[in-house]
Amino acid sequence: MLPDPHEENRRSWNAATKAHNSHKRDQAQVLAAGGHTLFSEEITLLGDVRGKSVVHLQCNAGQDTLSIASLLGAQVTGIDISDEAIAFARGLSAESGIPAEFVRSDLFDWFDHTQATFDVVYTGYGALNWLSDINRWARGVAKILRGRLVVIEFHPVMGMFTDEGFQLEVDALGGTHTIWDEGVGDYVAATGDVDAHFPYEPGMTDFTNPHRAHEWMWGIGDVIGAVLAAGLTLRHFTEYPYSNGFRRFPQMRALPGRRFAMPEDLPAIPMMYSLVAER
Ligand SMILES: C[S@@+](CC[C@H](N)C(=O)[O-])C[C@H]1O[C@@H](n2cnc3c(N)ncnc32)[C@H](O)[C@@H]1O
Repeated sequence: MLPDPHEENRRSWNAATKAHNSHKRDQAQVLAAGGHTLFSEEITLLGDVRGKSVVHLQCNAGQDTLSIASLLGAQVTGIDISDEAIAFARGLSAESGIPAEFVRSDLFDWFDHTQATFDVVYTGYGALNWLSDINRWARGVAKILRGRLVVIEFHPVMGMFTDEGFQLEVDALGGTHTIWDEGVGDYVAATGDVDAHFPYEPGMTDFTNPHRAHEWMWGIGDVIGAVLAAGLTLRHFTEYPYSNGFRRFPQMRALPGRRFAMPEDLPAIPMMYSLVAER
């Protein structure tokens, strides 16, 4: 039997999450003291969620999930396939005293089995590209959604290029499947300490991931088409010429507030998009 690509991604994310967290010091203390990891874009998009139930899909180690609880006053649930990420998130919740429920599961398995519904479904910052079927994702979202879907995601146009010299490498639409033998990388170290949310640590250096990873390149039309086909109504869509918290290419120029844009001498490209849809 061929290995399940989501299962391979679980192993790759377990290894990468350890490396990522090794660079972030005092996380529980920062969160307990009222610090948070949210950008103004998702704060605005999420709006008033005080007392509402918010599920954060592919929440990784829960920093953003806990920030949605502490800063915005929502009742939060986070879902992720990575054992390492969910164990870390549960520890962070306990240590910081910010209540949250964290579920370790493949997203599609969870969609199939859960009976829960939520006021808001939130996802993004490198989530959809790890899913093998965008229509199955959208149908799952529609099943668990009572109110609004909020997505803020890296743009497929930014994903078209390799990190060396902006060479075109990957299709920007159609769910093209790419297997990265080098696995999920240590992009936290690559982004470095520019305005880091948590005090930056050198942590694990020269991380190499022993587990390969699978990505699927979903274009804007694939995502919006899937959301509409699942019966949701599109309320908002926009693109951004910068990337929050993620220096995708070393040549990217740092803007204030941990944002990164194209170098001055190259044309702007869309680096993120956001989408809001309603049931
Ligand atoms: C770049 S991280 C997302 C980060 C997140 N936006 C945050 O707030 O930190 C991508 C996450 O997707 C998770 N993931 C990948 N495939 C998944 C799947 N099939 N089901 C659930 N989670 C998955 C990974 O374990 C990883 O934590």
